[in-house]
Amino acid sequence: MTEVARIPRHIAIVMDGNGRWAKARHRPRSFGHNAGRKAVRATVESCLREGVQALTLFAFSSENWQRPQDEVGALMGLFVRALDKEVEELRDQGVRLRFIGDLAAFDEPLRQRMQAAMTRTAGNHKLHMSVAVSYGGRWDIVQACRQAAQAVLHGELRPDEIDEARLDRWTSLADLPPLDLFIRTGGEYRLSNFLLWQAAYAELYFTDTLWPDFDHACLQRAIEDYAGRERRFGRTGEQVAPLP
Ligand code: FPP
Repeated sequence: MTEVARIPRHIAIVMDGNGRWAKARHRPRSFGHNAGRKAVRATVESCLREGVQALTLFAFSSENWQRPQDEVGALMGLFVRALDKEVEELRDQGVRLRFIGDLAAFDEPLRQRMQAAMTRTAGNHKLHMSVAVSYGGRWDIVQACRQAAQAVLHGELRPDEIDEARLDRWTSLADLPPLDLFIRTGGEYRLSNFLLWQAAYAELYFTDTLWPDFDHACLQRAIEDYAGRERRFGRTGEQVAPLP
């Protein structure tokens, strides 16, 4: 059996379970999101320790705008506070921060803060941290197709020249290593419209742990599970087996 490299280069996480974590403590959902922020910080530290190259987090989906207004407001406030508090430390730790998604959906002050955080950490390469906000996997594919259509319109490309590799270059995480490990916390078995294109050959890992409880040991368990998988990319087990 071909063992995969022990450490996945690129991990993505659907951070689910903040609301249930708060409910179990008879606290508002925003309390759970705040605890979730601390789990984000701990996960960044863990990825730096383990030598993961890229971490992509689903913080706010295209569909999350439909949540009650006070929860959306609390999440926006949390993002602003997190940006104000964490960016300098992330910069010092060698983390490059970027936001992916329909950033035009956010108000101007928040957009400017996101842009400033991206610029401030742009020179870093130790860990590429992408935070998906107002993001949907289908949105990502559509925006890539729009860019391809523009290129055709401007005569830079013929329609028959559009292939998977070309389209991939217009998707949100094109410059990062391929997604190796897709983790979802909170006990649901869904992709929930996250990284649909990029997850094509990712290994999937689901855990019942609620996101605020996800710690270094949880990440290590996910990585160990990943290291025991056989990745075939459509080929047979024999084809990918190492030569004797
Ligand atoms: C899903 O749990 C979680 C979210 C919609 C928000 C994720 C946000 C954070 C972890 C906060 C901080 C993030 C950053 C990057 C600063 P849920 O509310 O759907 O939980 P439930 O399924 O238990 O209701």
